Amino acid sequence: MAVALAAVAATTRSILLRDVDHRVDRLLTQETGEFTNFVDRGVDPDTGERFSDPRRLLQVFLERQYADPGEELIGLVRREGAGPAQYTQPRELSVRHPLHRDPGARRAIFAASGSTGTLNRPSGGELRWAKVEVARHGDEPEAAFVVAFHPAAEQAKADDVFRILLAISGVALVLTTGIAWAVAGRILKPVRVVRTAAAQLTEQDLTRRIPVHGKDDIAALADTFNGMLDRLERAFAAQREFVDDAGHELRTPITIVRGHLELMGDDPSEREETVRLVTDELDRMSRIVEDLLLLAKAERPDFIRPEPVQLAELTADVFVKARTLGERRWELAETADSEARLDPQRITQAMVQLAQNAVQHTVPGQRIRVGSRVTDGRIELYVADSGPGVQAQDAEVIFERFRRGTSRRGARTSGAGLGLSIVRAIAHGHRGEVRLRATEGGGATFVLVLEDQT
Ligand SMILES: Nc1ncnc2c1ncn2[C@@H]1O[C@H](COP(=O)(O)OP(=O)(O)OP(=O)(O)O)[C@@H](O)[C@H]1O
Ligand SMILES: [Mg+2]
Repeated sequence: MAVALAAVAATTRSILLRDVDHRVDRLLTQETGEFTNFVDRGVDPDTGERFSDPRRLLQVFLERQYADPGEELIGLVRREGAGPAQYTQPRELSVRHPLHRDPGARRAIFAASGSTGTLNRPSGGELRWAKVEVARHGDEPEAAFVVAFHPAAEQAKADDVFRILLAISGVALVLTTGIAWAVAGRILKPVRVVRTAAAQLTEQDLTRRIPVHGKDDIAALADTFNGMLDRLERAFAAQREFVDDAGHELRTPITIVRGHLELMGDDPSEREETVRLVTDELDRMSRIVEDLLLLAKAERPDFIRPEPVQLAELTADVFVKARTLGERRWELAETADSEARLDPQRITQAMVQLAQNAVQHTVPGQRIRVGSRVTDGRIELYVADSGPGVQAQDAEVIFERFRRGTSRRGARTSGAGLGLSIVRAIAHGHRGEVRLRATEGGGATFVLVLEDQT
């Protein structure tokens, strides 16, 4: 704004100065034109004849003229050996250094070869002049009529306007700065509130929320920010819970290992037994750690890498792998005969988990069926066992990590309760889910319901 206002003031000044220039030009042209006219047509009022004496011509002409303010009309006549004699009007000028008191300037103008010009007198200021010569002899004219104009006063007016404009601009600038300051402060106040609230948040205390007022953009920002805090709080809580669970689960095998080692005697057979038990627990621990790492990885976007897969082939592969898990009556029930985009490694991983559970909840000779089908455009892969099935109160919780059902066989299974969480994570990665159904004739059926990833 300051630059714009200064530019306006400067432009106005230069336009005014140019106007002064044009006006002076017009004035000079007009006065010289009048004199030229007079030379051509004027007659001496005394004799009624044309003028023969340039002195008389200038006198008569000057008597009849009236000079504008800042303007001087002078007649000059050549004198041998000195500057030109001058004839002026009787009127006093208000100019500081008039031409009729400046013989040097007069001589310069009289001798000048052109008919107009500008004199920049070092002590007298600028002077614009025009002259009409009467009969020139060699170097100098016989006589000349000179119009001189002192533009200083007019230029000073332009400068005055410039200064007034600058003053007004300054006041306007101060006023608008004040108003802009106040308005910006009001607009930014809610932003400051948001910022302060954000600054007060710590990892430990994510419970703070920003107050939402009204329906403007700032309110929307606060709302978005609060939503982000909700998600962050949930994520942190989930993470804390995860770490708590993991720590708790890992502590048990560590306690067992420590107990065995502390109680170990010198008897070789007892030692052998302890080593076997400890190795068992360590295996269990390393499986838990591996499973936890897998679950943590499930949060990453590249957890699932879909590729075109023949469902029939995939089902057959899973069946072959499952069969090695235990002596059961394995059956390949049905296979979907189509192609889909899935991650075959992850699907196999999930199905093996389900098959493992089925083996754990059946005894040799019991039937376990593996199969796949496509219904309503959704892919279903399932493992159906003929074991005791899942109790109704467990159906919801068994999919959560570290959760085991109540109908366990034996006091403590080797499982950590992570298998179904992994299955569920893999299903979610395929934008699908895992469902628990009852097998006809008793038992549990776990179904992976997936969506084609194309
Ligand atoms: N086929 C099944 N029949 C009956 N109950 C089952 C079956 N599969 C799972 N469950 C129940 O669900 C619980 C959780 O299973 P999950 O696979 O998550 O853990 P786990 O088998 O105990 O341990 P992990 O799989 O980590 O070794 C089991 O403890 C069991 O109670
Ligand atoms: Mg399991």
